[in-house]
Amino acid sequence: MNKKLLLDQIKIKYEKCNKCPLAKQGRSQVIFGKGDPNAKLMFIGEGPGRNEDMQGEPFVGKAGKLLTKMIEAMGLKREGVYISNVVKCRPPNNRTPLPNETNICKNEILLKEIEIIKPEIICCLGASAAKAMLGEDLKISKVRGTFFKLNEAKIMPTFHPAYLLRNPHAKRPVWEDLQKIVFNLKKTARQKSTDK
Ligand code: URA
Repeated sequence: MNKKLLLDQIKIKYEKCNKCPLAKQGRSQVIFGKGDPNAKLMFIGEGPGRNEDMQGEPFVGKAGKLLTKMIEAMGLKREGVYISNVVKCRPPNNRTPLPNETNICKNEILLKEIEIIKPEIICCLGASAAKAMLGEDLKISKVRGTFFKLNEAKIMPTFHPAYLLRNPHAKRPVWEDLQKIVFNLKKTARQKSTDK
């Protein structure tokens, strides 16, 4: 079935989701992933903040503006990738999502988004996303910049754009991580065109 239709079905099923405690902790709405359902590249952040909760879209605040610049610096368009979060409801005062919230939302929605989109590369923005996808014990500063394999996809953990706003010196390593992603996407596209 059409990927957009499948993603729309998830939205219909979960628009009033109350499977985890975040449903009753002040969210205004459930913020689903957004972008191209056929994207080869997917970004995963931690969870919606105040702006996202109000506007109904992931990454629309200051960190989101920086993410858009990062995507454009990669030679891509924001509409051409898929942007989502580990949890789809705003945690109170933007606290880090708790492990049970992460697990429930990952299994109910995030893994289904990934299964539908089938991205070649998933870029995990920050520790929450990297831990959700690769395991609780990791340190983002240790694993960033390395590709990990998860089923059909490659996972690239890097620092979160909100961290970059507070620590501009971390922009260079993140840029190197993003260039590895671009290089990989181009390599796969070349392989696919010679296989034809
Ligand atoms: N930070 C995130 O991790 N996700 C958003 O959607 C916005 C800010």
